[in-house]
Parts: sequence; C-alpha cells; structure tokens
Amino acid sequence: MKFDFLTSTLVLANIANAAILPQAALSLENEIETMETYLGLLGPSEISELPLVNSTELQALITHEALFARAEKLYEIAGHSNKSYGHPTRVIGSKGHWATIGYIEHELKKLHGYYNVTTQPFKAFMSEIFSFNATIDDEVPKSLVEMDMSPPTPKKAPVYGELFLVSNSGCTDDDYANVTGKIAFVKRGECAFGDKAQLAAKYGALAAIIYNNEPGEIRGTLGVPPEGVKVASAVGINKEEGDKYAKLLSEGQTLKASVQVDSYVGPITTVNVIAETNHGDPDNVVMLGAHSDSVAAGPGINDDGSGTISLLEVAKQLTNYRVENKVRFAFWAAEEEGLLGSNYYADNLTPGENEKIRLFMDYDMMASPNYEYEVYDANNVDNPKGSEELKNLYIDYYTSLGLNYTLIPFDGRSDYVGFIEHGIPGGGIAAGAEKDNAENGEVLDRCYHQLCDDISNIAWDAFLINTQLIAHSVATYGASLKDFPVRVNTTDVNALSFAYRGDKLIF
Ligand SMILES: *[C@@H]1O[C@H](CO)[C@@H](O)[C@H](O)[C@H]1NC(C)=O
Ligand SMILES: *[C@@H]1O[C@H](CO)[C@@H](O)[C@H](O)[C@H]1NC(C)=O
Ligand SMILES: *[C@@H]1O[C@H](CO)[C@@H](O)[C@H](O)[C@H]1NC(C)=O
Ligand SMILES: *[C@@H]1O[C@H](CO)[C@@H](O)[C@H](O)[C@H]1NC(C)=O
Ligand SMILES: *[C@@H]1O[C@H](CO)[C@@H](O)[C@H](O)[C@H]1NC(C)=O
Ligand SMILES: *[C@@H]1O[C@H](CO)[C@@H](O)[C@H](O)[C@H]1NC(C)=O
Ligand SMILES: *[C@@H]1O[C@H](CO)[C@@H](O)[C@H](O)[C@H]1NC(C)=O
Ligand SMILES: [Zn+2]
Repeated sequence: MKFDFLTSTLVLANIANAAILPQAALSLENEIETMETYLGLLGPSEISELPLVNSTELQALITHEALFARAEKLYEIAGHSNKSYGHPTRVIGSKGHWATIGYIEHELKKLHGYYNVTTQPFKAFMSEIFSFNATIDDEVPKSLVEMDMSPPTPKKAPVYGELFLVSNSGCTDDDYANVTGKIAFVKRGECAFGDKAQLAAKYGALAAIIYNNEPGEIRGTLGVPPEGVKVASAVGINKEEGDKYAKLLSEGQTLKASVQVDSYVGPITTVNVIAETNHGDPDNVVMLGAHSDSVAAGPGINDDGSGTISLLEVAKQLTNYRVENKVRFAFWAAEEEGLLGSNYYADNLTPGENEKIRLFMDYDMMASPNYEYEVYDANNVDNPKGSEELKNLYIDYYTSLGLNYTLIPFDGRSDYVGFIEHGIPGGGIAAGAEKDNAENGEVLDRCYHQLCDDISNIAWDAFLINTQLIAHSVATYGASLKDFPVRVNTTDVNALSFAYRGDKLIF
C-alpha cells in the first residue's frame, strides 16, 4: 500500500470532522502564524555551501539550556489536558498530545525549509481498564492482574460460569470444544493473548482467565482487535495459582468462576510526524524516531518527552550542515497503546520505500533519574544485518567517554519492532524504566508511567550525553554509510518474533 501523507492542515480538518477536535494544536498553530514569520527557504546552492556534517561539532551544539527549555515547554503543553484529565498528560487524543504534535511541527517547519515535514494519520486504539475482578472457587486469585485492551464484560457486571480448562495452549479451534457458556481457563504460550481471547469468544466462552506458563507477573495486552472480530473479556493470573487450578480441573473437579471487567476500548485517529531533509541521497535514508505520546497517568517528560526533545534539538542543530544521506526524523504516536504509530508506518512502506531505509534508530527514555546507559542487544544473526554495527557505534561511544553501559534485551518494548520485522536494521539506546539499576539496586525510573514523570524526573547529565550520542549517530550515518552493511532485500515478516509490544507482553 502507498503512503497516504497529507498536509497537516488537511489532517487537522479531517480529524475535526471525525469529531475529535484537536483544539490545542489548532490554536497553537494560529498563534505561531501570527507571532512569527518562517525564515526564507534554503535553496540548493545555499545547502551546497554548508559544511558536511561533523560529529564533534554537531555534538558541541547540544546544550543543557536548550534541553531544559524544551522540557519546560512540553510540561506546559501537557497542562492543556488538565481540564479533561485532572492532571497534565500527553496521552493520544488529549489536548496535551495534540499540542505536542503542533509544537513538533512548528519547531521543524521554522527551520528555513531544511525539512519536508509531513503528518501521517492512522487509526489507533485507546484502552482504559477502570476496574476488574475475578473469582475461582469463590476466591479472588492473589495474583490477579488486568489484561490491557480487554473489552468490558456485559454491562460491566460479573459473568458467572464453570471454569473450563482449554486444551493445549489454546491456539487452535479444537482446544475450545465445549467452552460455550463457561469461563475459558487458558495457559499462556505459543500464540498471542489476543488470539486466545478471540478464540474463546468465537466458541461462546463468557470470558477468559489466562495463566502464566513461567514465573512472574503476566502484564499482557490483547492487542488491537481486528475489525469485526469478537474478543472475550480477559484477566491474568500467575503460574503457581494457574497450575493449581489446572490440576484440579484436569482431575475432573468442577470449579465455579466469575470475571468482571469495566473498561473502554475504542478507535481514535492520531498522527505520526515525519521530517526528512530536503537534500541528501534519497536512496540511502538514515532514520531515527522517538514517540510523541505519553500514558494517561502523567505528562511523560522522560517517557518519551526526552527522546522527542533530543530529536528536535538534533534536527535544529543539523541545519548548520549538509548531509550526504537523507536523514528522516519520526515522531510516533500511540507507542503507549502498543507501538501503533511505528508499526503502521513500517507496515505501509512500499517495497521501494522500505529498501531505501538503511537503518532505524530508536530513542525512547533518554534521561531516567537513576539511569544506566542501556544499549539494545541487537545482532546480525537474529536481526537484519547492520543492527550489530549500530549497537557497536553506541558501545564505542560510551566506552570512549569511560562510561559503563548495559546491554538490554532487544525484545519489542519500543518502536524498532516494525522496522526489524520488515527487514530494516535497527537498534537504539535508553536510560531505563521499571527495572533496578544493577550498581545501586534502586529503580531506574521511579516515576515510570506515573504522574510524577515531570521535569524533576530528568537526569540532566544523562540527557545531555544521550542527546550528544544521538547527534553522533546522525552525523556519522548522515555523512557516510560506506562502512555500514548494504540492505538485504528481505520480505520476511515474523510477526511474533518479539514478546513485547511496548511495555506489555503480547504472548
Ligand atoms: C570535525 O570537527 C573537528 C573540530 O572542528 C575537527 O577537529 C575534525 O577534524 C573534523 N572532522 C572531520 C572528519 O572533518
Ligand atoms: C496543570 O496542572 C499542573 C499540575 O497541577 C500545573 O502545574 C499546571 O500549571 C497546570 N496547567 C494548566 C495549563 O492549567
Ligand atoms: C515530502 O514527503 C512526502 C512524504 O514522503 C512526499 O510525498 C513528498 O513528495 C515530499 N515533498 C517533497 C517536496 O519532497
Ligand atoms: C471481587 O469479588 C469478590 C467476590 O465477589 C469481592 O469480595 C471483592 O470485594 C471484589 N473485589 C473488587 C476489587 O471488586
Ligand atoms: C465435548 O462434549 C461432548 C458431549 O458431552 C463430549 O462427548 C466430548 O468429548 C467433549 N469434548 C471435549 C474436547 O471435551
Ligand atoms: C563502572 O562500574 C564499575 C563496577 O560497578 C564501578 O566501579 C565504576 O565506578 C563505574 N564507572 C562509572 C564511570 O560509572
Ligand atoms: C526486493 O524485493 C521486492 C519484492 O519482491 C522487489 O519488488 C524488488 O525489486 C527487490 N529489490 C531488489 C533490489 O532486489
Ligand atoms: Zn516510551
């Protein structure tokens, strides 16, 4: 399928027609038009007079002051949501998010026409679980957790039925024989949680309880429901409790159960913002991205305000130079709903557009307060060729500054997934989320996905270093890709190669 890029004005008009009014973005744009005049466009001759981008120099142009000023601006923007949400947030659909989009577009468009700035609208899904509950044999399982994207039970009330042990991993139709009118009890594994919930609904289950097949919390998402497909309400429990009940059921015992979910799952239109240098080799595109949205709980200044700010500042400073290869900056929406914007983008690249992207670099959470310097542990065997060279660029950088770095699993928690799954080399860096810092045993980001992810949740030293590393990556590949592996033409898509879609497990 071909891209359906539209001008931002048109997009805003369309969205307004769809009854989701991005007033914040509109008013911000009006304000900008009257207050400022965009600087004159740079023509080809002016561009050719600029020096070729130089990593040392580009890095030197990144300052604390600029990062701080942008962080303050983003927090102020998140405050546009106060009225509807009761607190600052930049979650998709909120005024805070639309104002973020408006800010990103404005910041890029004012740079002398150095970038071609476009927006890509797409349909995303919002999900909010307001409450959930379940009982088995009249007891609430101790390990009970919600499943993201679960539809509500009818009238948000509990459903009652016998617990039915689904055969095998519950990935085929046969496994659900006789589940009708009962509550499906399904083991995790082999296929996505969403597939299990769809099969349960297809065979008339009242709801589903999914139990883990390995120690630890299940923290899953049912994913975006395909159009016109029914999905059972679902909750999760751990392996210990799951195995206990599965054993009783397999011994022929009858167990009564109930499930209740009060939630909202619904479609919403939002946009990715893409900005590409107007000059540079169009057949060799260096791409990088951060996500523009936050979770509903807070303003998301570290997650991923930090990456958004880093990209904007690098994009601004890059205009002092000329590049050999086109550099394309992406600001994804709906990352927090399961990487929806970046997946939409990667899924809709034509083969010709796909082959021109030499690599994708992901920058999500650059300034966690108790940070570590994390590098995604990509390689050239499991991931497209070039992913390992990119990983080594990051490692060499931290090493050259005498900084410790930590390799972290390349398991699908951020926006690189769509690229890797479509054969495009990728990788990235991060400063840490809910895990503990190995050096001091404290959580890396104490405000991860919370209201307190505000300006005080930023480690300014890590923010500066990581933004300079982003500048280094852009300068290195923007100047030359001669040492970087050529693209292998692959159309292989392994849809389940990653366990996560964002912060939630998918299978
Ligand atoms: C980049 O700039 C630095 C500082 O101006 C200079 O020392 C270096 O030689 C330049 N590198 C290249 C490859 O031109
Ligand atoms: C939104 O709420 C935050 C926190 O209470 C406050 O700091 C900020 O000023 C508010 N912004 C607006 C625009 O109301
Ligand atoms: C700007 O980018 C869009 C999306 O890739 C493309 O369709 C359009 O032709 C580009 N415009 C220019 C002037 O390059
Ligand atoms: C869940 O259901 C049980 C049994 O009906 C009830 O005792 C408990 O209060 C409920 N918990 C919540 C959070 O609704
Ligand atoms: C389904 O129920 C029928 C009738 O009770 C029984 O013969 C059959 O074995 C059951 N199938 C499974 C898979 O439990
Ligand atoms: C790197 O890690 C080692 C071992 O934990 C520690 O002793 C050292 O201080 C760390 N260096 C830096 C620059 O953080
Ligand atoms: C890559 O594969 C696509 C789809 O099969 C094909 O259209 C394209 O021509 C191929 N490109 C190269 C460079 O082989
Ligand atoms: Zn994030």
